[in-house]
Order: sequence, then structure tokens, then C-alpha cells
Amino acid sequence: MHISIIGAGYVGLTTAVCLAEIGHEVLCTDSDQQKLDLLRKGGVPFYEPHLTAALQQSHATGRLRFTDTIDAIKSSEAVFICVGTPPLENGEADLSAIENVAQSIVEHAQGYRLIVDKSTVPVQTAQQLRKHLQHYNKGGLDYDVASNPEFLREGSAVEDSLHPDRIVVGADGERAVSILRQIYAPILEHAFVCPIHKKCPQRDVPFIVTDTNSAELIKHASNAFLATKISFINMVADLCEAAGADVSMVAQGMGLDPRIGPAFLRPGIGFGGFCFPKDLQAFVRIAENFGCDFSLLKEVEKINVRRADQVISKLKKELWVLSGKTVAVWGIAFKPDTDDVRFAPALGIIRRLLAERVTIRAYDPQAMEKAKSEIPDVTYCKDMYDAANGADAILLLTEWNEFRNPDWTRVRELVRRPLLLDGRNMFAVDEVVKYGFEHIGVGRKPTSPSTAVTITA
Ligand code: UGA
Repeated sequence: MHISIIGAGYVGLTTAVCLAEIGHEVLCTDSDQQKLDLLRKGGVPFYEPHLTAALQQSHATGRLRFTDTIDAIKSSEAVFICVGTPPLENGEADLSAIENVAQSIVEHAQGYRLIVDKSTVPVQTAQQLRKHLQHYNKGGLDYDVASNPEFLREGSAVEDSLHPDRIVVGADGERAVSILRQIYAPILEHAFVCPIHKKCPQRDVPFIVTDTNSAELIKHASNAFLATKISFINMVADLCEAAGADVSMVAQGMGLDPRIGPAFLRPGIGFGGFCFPKDLQAFVRIAENFGCDFSLLKEVEKINVRRADQVISKLKKELWVLSGKTVAVWGIAFKPDTDDVRFAPALGIIRRLLAERVTIRAYDPQAMEKAKSEIPDVTYCKDMYDAANGADAILLLTEWNEFRNPDWTRVRELVRRPLLLDGRNMFAVDEVVKYGFEHIGVGRKPTSPSTAVTITA
């Protein structure tokens, strides 16, 4: 099928590449000309595993092309809106980019268009879109509006798009459902070779059809629920610290209940990124606008904001006076396998430490370029060892695989004080303690070489 994608951010670009990968003819566009030029040359403006290779392959087959918005709107019957919905000052989502696309569609499209919203939007956005199109449709355009929320995660965006847990289609008519079913047929029927695994997918993917309001709510409610799970386990972690329990064991014990499940029960320094923090705020505002008091989510957000305080106070407790100390930061991105630092908890923590006149030596495998423009007053280092040089403490803030098995003997020689604040519970405590480090995790008892206990199975 011929498909156009408006907006080449994480969602739009990944969708464009993956739809081309499963056999469609895709036109992708963005209002940023520089970005389009880069994409035309096969480059990707952000780090996302497998995306560059898949993009270059779809380029080579000619199934993915980059063009301007008007051409994209004129050329395909199915138009996916994947533009940004950034937060306004009051927390609501800014929908002006979506309205602009709708306006371009009524002005430039002829015949029939299926307009599919993939951006994360408040409930009733599809209804509003439909109304807008009705009011401004002077040329007799025939159209359907559908909601097809995206559930991909940064860092595994290609994998998530080609092997989704579910495909949700909100539509108010059979025609829209049938076109979307056709678009996703290769995934539903296991009829493509996955470029990552080099074989056809095995797992059946549920295709869920709802009304548009419900589809829009599925997306926001899913993100809000996942964020709630994280804040919940973070509070349990605090309780574990206070009461002398181990949150990893508690989470494991809870997660074995299939009604709870083990995912998203990793405590740490809080959730970040461009989705959870903004979607949570937007969801609270949406509920308020409909007269529903969703204060539960305000609490989830408050707990999340307080995570940075925890890190600072733990560090203060250990280092006493922060001013003049040197802290090594391992990891800045809001999660591993991305260079995205938007709403990254690490940025907030680093800013607070800089304000206390701490010298920061930071290293992240991918996110340093983006971090530099946000926090220039940091010494950016060539690797984790360089960052540890002369440090009074090491802060592990993003659990990149690269950090998993350091040469602890070397790290021990480099640091001024062997203090490891493990913000993601990444390291095996008995392992680091063996090398003379004090280990402070999240929701665990602090362990130093003198208090280490050997646990036998
Ligand atoms: C999230 C959702 O997981 C996706 O399903 C959704 O499509 C996406 O938002 C979106 O709305 O576009 P993403 O923000 O890429 O995806 O990353 P996640 O893997 O969900 O992680 C979000 C944050 O939660 C990260 O800062 C991560 O470190 C943190 N986290 C995650 C925890 O602190 N603990 C956990 O157990 C899991």
C-alpha cells in the first residue's frame, strides 16, 4: 500500500521504516528541512538500535522516500499523523501541529483519505479532528479518522514496532478498520522477514478494534499505569531501606503473581524521557477537564520528582560537605540504548550537584552530545574509567550494558574514595564490595567491605 507519514521523530521515523520493511511504499515528511536532508542521505538524527540499518535498507529498495508535506498528503490514501504533542505550560498537550496537518489535508488532498493519528493525544482528539475536517472541507474530500496509538519504547523501537504486544485501532467505521488491517497484515500474518532476527515472527499479535475515544485512552492509561508501577516500587524501595529489607527480593516475590507481573518493578532514580513525565501531566489535566479527580497520578509524579532528592541526600550523608568534591557520573540518558536526555533524571541530579559546587566527570556511551547543550559545565569523559579518575564517589545513573562488568581493580585505583551509589541497582553488591567499594543501592542496605555478608545458596 501507499502510506504517508507526517513527522519523522522517534514514532514517525520508526513507523515509516517498519512499514517499508514489511512491504509498503512509504513517503515520510517532516517540517525540519535539515532533518529531511540527513534522512535522504541515510542518516538518523538520534541513536536508536537497528534503525539506521533498516532505514538504509528501505532506502535501497526504494520503498521509503522522504518528501515535503504537501507531496506526502497528495500521494497516499493513508496518512499517519506522527507529529509532536509537547506539553504546554499548564501540562496539557499542545495539539497545534496536529491541527496544522489536518488543515493541510483539507487544502491539498483529493478523493479519499484515511487519516490515522499515531501521536499521543488526549481523548476526543479524533472527534475534534473529524469536526475540524468537516468545517474546513470545501473540496468534497472523503475521509475517515482513526486512532492507532504507538507503544514502542526508545532503545527497542524497531523491535517493538515489528513485534508489537498488540495493535490497537480506534475507528468508527469498517472502511478504516479494513485498511488498517491490510496495512498491518504482514505483521498479523507473520508474512515478513524481520531484519533483526532474520526470520519470520512467530508470536500472534492481537488486533484490537475500539472506538476512537477508547483507543486514545488506552495509550494514556497504559503510560500512566506503567509510571504508577515505577513510583509504587520506588516507595516500596524507600520502605525497604527504612525497615531493613531488600527491594529486589520484594519485587521478585511480587512479580511472580501473574496479576502483578515482574516488568516495571525496577526501583531507581525515577522515570524520565519525553513520554511518561509529559503524558502523566497531560492525563491528569484531561481527567480534570472531564471533572475526574485523578490525584493518584499527581502523587505518582510527586514521588518521581522526589527521587533526585534521595540521591542527593544519600550522597550528602556519605560525603558530608559536597562543595569541592568530585563525582563521577556513569550514564546520562533517561534509559539505556538511547541518546535521549529529555526529562532524564540524571540531568536534574547533575544540575543539583553543580549548584552545590561539585565537580562532575560524566560519561555516557551515546548521550554526551545532547547532554553538552543542556549542561555544559561538566567534564565529559572518554569512558567510564576516565570519569572515575579522582572521584570521591561514582554515581551510576543509567544502566548501560557497557557499565555492567567494569575492571573494578582499575576503577579502585582511579578513584579517590571507593564509594559507589548505584542508582539502578545494576551491580551485584558482593562483587563490588570484594574490590573494596562501599555500595549504596536503592531499597537495599548499604554495604561496605566490613559489613559484607556472604550469602550462600
Ligand atoms: C514508554 C512506554 O514504555 C512505551 O510503551 C510508550 O510507547 C512510550 O513511552 C511512548 O509513549 O512513546 P519509553 O519512554 O521509551 O517508553 O521508555 P520506558 O522503557 O518505558 O522507560 C521510561 C522510564 O522509566 C525510563 O526513565 C526508565 O529508566 C524508567 N523505568 C522503567 C524505571 O525506572 N523502572 C522500571 O522498572 C522501568
